[in-house]
Amino acid sequence: MRKRSWTIRPARKEDIPRIVAISGRIWEGEDYVPDVIGEWLEEEPGEVLVAEGDGLVVAFAHLFRLFPDLVWLEGFRTDPAWQGQGAGRALAEYTIEKARSSGIRTAAFSTYIENYASLHILGGLGFTKVAEWIVLSEDLLPQARKLKQAAASTSWGPETITPRPDEMEEFLRRSPALAGSAGWLADGWRFFPFFRDSQRALSHYCWRLATRRGGRLGALLLAGKGHEGTSINFMEGEPEAMRQLLGTFLSMRPEGDLTAPGKITAPGRAFCVMIPAGGDPSQALSLLADAGFETWNGGKPDVFLYALSLEAQADRSCD
Ligand SMILES: CC(C)(COP(=O)(O)OP(=O)(O)OC[C@H]1O[C@@H](n2cnc3c(N)ncnc32)[C@H](O)[C@@H]1OP(=O)(O)O)[C@@H](O)C(=O)NCCC(=O)NCCS
Repeated sequence: MRKRSWTIRPARKEDIPRIVAISGRIWEGEDYVPDVIGEWLEEEPGEVLVAEGDGLVVAFAHLFRLFPDLVWLEGFRTDPAWQGQGAGRALAEYTIEKARSSGIRTAAFSTYIENYASLHILGGLGFTKVAEWIVLSEDLLPQARKLKQAAASTSWGPETITPRPDEMEEFLRRSPALAGSAGWLADGWRFFPFFRDSQRALSHYCWRLATRRGGRLGALLLAGKGHEGTSINFMEGEPEAMRQLLGTFLSMRPEGDLTAPGKITAPGRAFCVMIPAGGDPSQALSLLADAGFETWNGGKPDVFLYALSLEAQADRSCD
């Protein structure tokens, strides 16, 4: 079937109501885009693009410049009434071409295993899988209940500390989990190349909890408030120490937190955990299961990071 053509242009403030309306029809209205669209348009170093047909915006996407030469693609959405008519592909192709012609060397995105349309479109454009994670989640209320119990049962463990940046860096540099995720650290559903800028990577986490043993960190837990809500983005180390860190983190209260302000997540918002599938995720998964978290895909990898070298693409076009 011949697909129709679309006009791609930068989004404007006046597009927000239409973007919010599209978003409201996706994932039963649980999409995070309405919470961040203002920020995407105004504050972040990036751009929102829309696909328009006959004057109607039917799809949009966000390009976020993680680095001057690395663009993060996210928030691809097409109004369900217009899906399958080429708007998503047109946006993706435009985005890649625009990034390439702006001198960006790499484009990256993450997606869930069941996002068949995205995988089909972006895979067809040459993106290849870089690393895999296992996502877990649970609603706030049952989780809080279970984790209070978990925290109560771990009061005997090694002391929970707020680690120094150099200690975290050292831990992460020798981390099998980070090596297993090709050096990318989760920040919710966005991922960040730790070794490009370790300080900036760590700045994403308002909760950094660790235990120390023999002058070194024995376990480390990093959590933050990404744009989709709160997430635990990394946990690794000695099993009992990890159990303690998890219990401590999840039992923290707004007024009694260790390192950061605010409640753990907004009411009703899912609280997600990203565990790198590389290394050995079994200990972390077992502790999280004890704490009431559930994997989405039976414990198998289900969140994938894809990247595309735009240099290679430019080189190929010169062949
Ligand atoms: C992903 C999304 C933006 C795609 O938008 P779209 O406008 O429907 O995309 P297009 O019509 O350009 O292309 C869809 C392509 O995916 C293919 N596709 C759709 N469903 C598929 C499936 N279940 N399995 C394999 N391919 C599939 C179509 O055949 C089409 O391929 P083609 O261009 O080779 O013919 C849209 O499905 C969407 O909004 N999904 C919900 C939000 C989401 O998951 N966003 C991505 C987050 S990473």
